[in-house]
Amino acid sequence: MGYVGKRGAQEVLVNGLRRLEYRGYDSAGVAIADGAGGLEVHRAAGPLDNLVAVLPEGATSGTTGMGHTRWATHGPPTDRNAHPHRDGSGRVAVVHNGIIENFAALRAELEAEGVELTSDTDSEVAAHLVARAFDTDPDAGLTAAVRAVVARLEGAFTLVFTHADRPDEIVAARRSSPLVVGVGQGEMFVASDVAAFIDFTRDAVELGQDQIVTLTAEGAVVTDFLGETAKTRPFHVDWDIEAAEKGGHDFFMLKEIEEQPTALADTLRGHLVDGRVVLDEQRLSDQELRDIDKVFVVACGTAYHAGLLAKYAIEHWCRIPVEVEVASEFRYRDPVLDRSTLVVAISQSGETADTLEAVRHARDQKARVLAICNTNGAQIPRESDAVLYTHAGPEVGVAATKTFTAQVIACYLVGLALAQTFGTKYADEVAREYAELESSTVAVQRVLDAVVEPTRELARDLAGSKAVLFLGRHVGFPVALEGALKLKELAYMHAEGFAAGELKHGPIALIEQDLPVVVVMPSPKGRAILHQKLLSNIREIQARGARTIVVAEEGDETVRPFAEHLIEVPAVSTLLQPLVSSVPLQVFAAEVARSRGYDVDKPRNLAKSVTVE
Ligand code: M6R
Repeated sequence: MGYVGKRGAQEVLVNGLRRLEYRGYDSAGVAIADGAGGLEVHRAAGPLDNLVAVLPEGATSGTTGMGHTRWATHGPPTDRNAHPHRDGSGRVAVVHNGIIENFAALRAELEAEGVELTSDTDSEVAAHLVARAFDTDPDAGLTAAVRAVVARLEGAFTLVFTHADRPDEIVAARRSSPLVVGVGQGEMFVASDVAAFIDFTRDAVELGQDQIVTLTAEGAVVTDFLGETAKTRPFHVDWDIEAAEKGGHDFFMLKEIEEQPTALADTLRGHLVDGRVVLDEQRLSDQELRDIDKVFVVACGTAYHAGLLAKYAIEHWCRIPVEVEVASEFRYRDPVLDRSTLVVAISQSGETADTLEAVRHARDQKARVLAICNTNGAQIPRESDAVLYTHAGPEVGVAATKTFTAQVIACYLVGLALAQTFGTKYADEVAREYAELESSTVAVQRVLDAVVEPTRELARDLAGSKAVLFLGRHVGFPVALEGALKLKELAYMHAEGFAAGELKHGPIALIEQDLPVVVVMPSPKGRAILHQKLLSNIREIQARGARTIVVAEEGDETVRPFAEHLIEVPAVSTLLQPLVSSVPLQVFAAEVARSRGYDVDKPRNLAKSVTVE
C-alpha cells in the first residue's frame, strides 16, 4: 500500500495493512518520508501487531509513505527480509508483490559494482536499481527511474517506490499482481485491494498490466511501461466495509460459512434471462461454443474440488468429455488443446499463478478459456474469452468456504449454458434445472440452522485425534477431498479423502481402533446402488474399530445403526448434495482448529492469494 496526502501516513498505512493482512502476514513494514529529508523505516517479522509494537507512538509528521504485509517467497520471514527494502543510501524504499525471476543475475551485477545487499529477497534489487537510475539523472524524476528499471525485470512484480528526495510522491508499477489507486480529496492511495483505503475513499481506478502510476496529493498520472499515457478504468466501490467485518464471530471464516445461502443466491442472480442462462462476459460467438468438443477444468486446491463436481454436471447435461486437472500440472504434460477445446479456469482470487499460467498456455494453443472467478477485474478473467463471476463477496478467511459452494453453483450454471448452446437441453429443462439450483439456498440455510451446534460439539470431542479419514463416492468423493483439505489446512491434522471404493485397494490398512472416519453418504433413493455399496464400506471400517461419523440424508434410517455420530442434511437432488454435505465439514474443521488453539482465519504457511508458481 502507498499513501500521499495530508494525514499522518503511519496511521493510514497501519489501518490499510490491517485490511490487507489476509493477503500475507509473515512480516510487515512501513517507510515514511520523515519531513526532514529522510525516510523512516520500521519492519517486524510476524503479524502486523508486531510491527505496531515497534512503531513510534502517535502519528509522525510524515504524510507520504508505503507499507507491506509479506508472504515469503525468497528468504525466510525475518525482520531483515520484511519489506520495505532500501538501497544502500537508505533514500529509496520499495515494497513488492510477486517474484523477480532474474533477480540472481541483477543481484550479481549489483554486487560486482560493490553494492551490499542486506536481505535474502528478490525484491531488494529493485531499490538499488531505482536508486542508481535516479542518481544518473535526478531531473528526469522517480517515475523515469522506475520505468527504466521495470524494463529490466522479469517475472511478476507489482512495486511501490518512494524516494527521500521526492517526499511528496509515490510511484507504483504493476505487472501481474493487482494494484488499485484510491482517489481522495487532496490525498491518494495505491494498494493491492480497495479494502486498504475504503475507510478514506470509495473512488478508485484499476491499473492495467504494465502500467506505472505517479501519485501526488493532487492526483494520479498513469502511463504504460513505455511512457505513453495509459487507459484506466475508474470505478466506485459499492461494497460496505461491514461486509468484510466478522459479523459478531470470532473468525471471518465462521461468518463466511454462514453467508453461503446469500453467496449462492447472489451467484445465481441475473443469470437466467429470457429463459437462457447467460454468462457475465462472453467474447465467444455461439458458433465458437458449439464447436467445442472437449472440456478441461483447471484449478487449484478447493477450486479444483469444485472443478471435479463440474465434470459430473457438464458430462451429464452436455454429453461431452470433461477432464479435471490441478492447474500446476496442466501445462507441463503437453495437453492436447485446440480451437475446439474449452478450458474452464476456476479461481476465487483470479490471481492464482498456477491457474493463470494454465490459462495462458491454453490460449497459446488456441483453446477457448472460460473463467469462474470471485474477483472482478482480476487477471484470470481479464485473460479469458468468457467469464462467470461467483458473487460470494470478499472472503477474508484463508480457507475457502462460501467461495467453494459458489464455485460449485457457478460450474453448474456453466454446464447449463453449454447444454443450451449444444442443444442437449431444451429451454424448459434448463429452466427446471435452474430452479433446482435456486432451491440450494434454502437447503444450505437449513443445514446451517440444524447442524452447526451439534457438529461443533462433535469437533470438540474429536479435536485430540491423530488423524481423520473422509470417504465418499460419486459427487460425495470431491466432498470427502474438500473435507480433508479443510481439516489439514486449519487444524494441521493428518486428513485424507478417498473414493470409498478405493478403500480395499490400500487405504483400509490405515484403519485402526478409534480412528475417526467421516463418510459422505449418497441418497438412499436417488443413488440406491451407491448407497448400498457405501453401507458395506462403513461395515468394513467399523469392523476394524473406526469411529464412524456419517453425513446422510434426513430420514435415511438404514445408515443409522452404522453411524456412531449422524449428521443429517436435507434431501436434495444429486448435484446439490455436495453443497449441503460440505457445510458440516467446514464447520467441523473450523471447530477442531479452534479447539486446538489455532487462528482459523490465518492458518500457518498459507496465503489467500497464491501469486507464485
Ligand atoms: O484463489 P483461488 O481459488 O485460485 O485459490 C486456489 C487455492 O489456493 C485455494 O482454494 C486454497 O486451496 C484454499 N485455501 C483452500 O481452502
